[in-house]
Amino acid sequence: MKGVILHGGHGTRLRPLTHTGPKQLIPVANKPISQYVLEDLRDSGIRDIAIILGDIYPEKVKEFYGEGRRFGVNITYIYQGEPKGIAHAVGLCEDFVEEEFVVYLGDNLLKGGIASYVDEFSKSNMDAMILLCEVNRPELFGVAKFNDKGELVGLVEKPKVPPSRYALTGIYFFRRAIFDAIRRLKPSWRGELEITEAIHSLLVDGHKVGHRIVSGWWKDTGTPEDILEANRLVLEELQTRVDGTVENQSSMQGRISIGLGSIVKSGALIRGPAIIGENSTIEGDVYIGPYTSIGNNVIIRSGEIENSIIMDGCLIEVKDRIIDSIIGPNAKIISNAKSKPSGRRFIIGESSQIIF
Ligand code: TTP
Repeated sequence: MKGVILHGGHGTRLRPLTHTGPKQLIPVANKPISQYVLEDLRDSGIRDIAIILGDIYPEKVKEFYGEGRRFGVNITYIYQGEPKGIAHAVGLCEDFVEEEFVVYLGDNLLKGGIASYVDEFSKSNMDAMILLCEVNRPELFGVAKFNDKGELVGLVEKPKVPPSRYALTGIYFFRRAIFDAIRRLKPSWRGELEITEAIHSLLVDGHKVGHRIVSGWWKDTGTPEDILEANRLVLEELQTRVDGTVENQSSMQGRISIGLGSIVKSGALIRGPAIIGENSTIEGDVYIGPYTSIGNNVIIRSGEIENSIIMDGCLIEVKDRIIDSIIGPNAKIISNAKSKPSGRRFIIGESSQIIF
């Protein structure tokens, strides 16, 4: 079976982080979200993978994944450009795939992975198989409709009145029948070719469409809150590992991972789960609280940080506590500058948020 990762889209809800790269490369527990996707496909035995590129710095995706050798897979890049819909992106894979294939949105995480579903689908005669997850706000997703016998009879995209609480996750198994269904689609009210509609039409036309309810958590990381929640969910399973230096008088509580070349100085308190990348420095005055991911080459001179993602190359020197934050690469936050006149100075890009 071949795999397809969707790496396009505009990621408007994640600006300004998506001004400089696609959202799927945003790190969760120090690893790009789409790398979890690629590793799930690989660990399910899928070696031939197409990555669909959008128009937000697609070269950064190619630079990171290359031909895939570093990850043990072969990657083919297919350029979509403008996001014309998930079904449009899938339609571009017609020449790449053979009989059955799996499509995985590059910003979706699934606990437990897809290996058992890959196995089940390849042995089946289904034309499509979808994975559903019970959610609190189904109106934000594609939603499954069942009849009285509990059979799947339809799918509706972001319905005002959801027919069930089961959302369509971003993982779809298909055979070639989907391409005809996609060819017949017309753009929806939001101007996109909707995969929900394509699968619905397979159902209505009498094709065999199976569904499975996922047992663990599933996370679609479209908003900053989603990214922080995904970070928490992944860190929940973090194992302690210390490759860097932890000075004697520092305090380490709970599960903590510290990368090569990083140093935690005497006096610092780190309360896990928390991950610190390579070559980062945590000074003695600092508290790092639970559910925090700190990237490579970061310097935290002072302050407290909790439930946050601090990306590579950042410098932080504050007097108080930073919470629930996502700080993009190479940002500086300094609050004890002594120069006059006193006051807060900002150099902030479009769509940034500052709340204090
Ligand atoms: P969305 O989150 O629906 O789209 P988006 O990235 O444009 O986000 P926003 O609403 O914040 O602007 O997309 C779901 C996933 O599918 C995501 O991984 C991006 C990918 N995608 C494509 O690759 N091509 C497309 O044409 C679309 C619409 C999405």
